[in-house]
Amino acid sequence: MIIRPAEEEDIDALLLIEHACFSHERFHRPYIECLMSLKAADVLVGTVRDLVVSSAMVIHYDVQGRSHLLSLATLPSHRGRGLSKRILIRTEEIARRRGSSSMSLEVRKSNSQAIGLYQGQGYSTIGALTDFFGPKQDAWQMEKPL
Ligand SMILES: CC(C)(COP(=O)(O)OP(=O)(O)OC[C@H]1O[C@@H](n2cnc3c(N)ncnc32)[C@H](O)[C@@H]1OP(=O)(O)O)[C@@H](O)C(=O)NCCC(=O)NCCS
Repeated sequence: MIIRPAEEEDIDALLLIEHACFSHERFHRPYIECLMSLKAADVLVGTVRDLVVSSAMVIHYDVQGRSHLLSLATLPSHRGRGLSKRILIRTEEIARRRGSSSMSLEVRKSNSQAIGLYQGQGYSTIGALTDFFGPKQDAWQMEKPL
């Protein structure tokens, strides 16, 4: 997989990933475009044979020296091959280079795949958020020192 910053031509593919990977809380075009235009954010895509299969979106709070993972997803057809782990590690490298000392995120409590990924990469649970993703959709807050 090749990991690179998303370009305008990737937005349709990013929307497809959002559609294939999330039933609620999907990011829409204006939000993705806005993130791509921000110096404080990175939108990454992972491609396999020129097909965008993974995405990661992260925002950096430079003054506070921390970064926050907004989204991470891999198409169902390409899961279980370590691609999400690789793109997550790349976001952490970028955050570290910008001077962030931590990466935080929220994950649905029922999302065992994602929790397994984050725990395996050194993220710890630092809090719980009731109804974060909607009614009865509680989340864990997780964080990793970088
Ligand atoms: C969660 C998600 C990103 C994992 O993607 P993936 O490409 O299959 O993950 P990887 O192949 O990189 O696996 C990395 C690690 O995740 C964990 N993992 C993956 N699938 C798992 C499963 N079914 N159960 C438990 N842990 C799992 C493992 O720790 C794995 O490491 P290992 O292979 O060394 O054991 C993917 O399922 C996805 O896109 N889901 C929908 C979107 C989503 O929920 N994103 C997270 C929002 S917070």
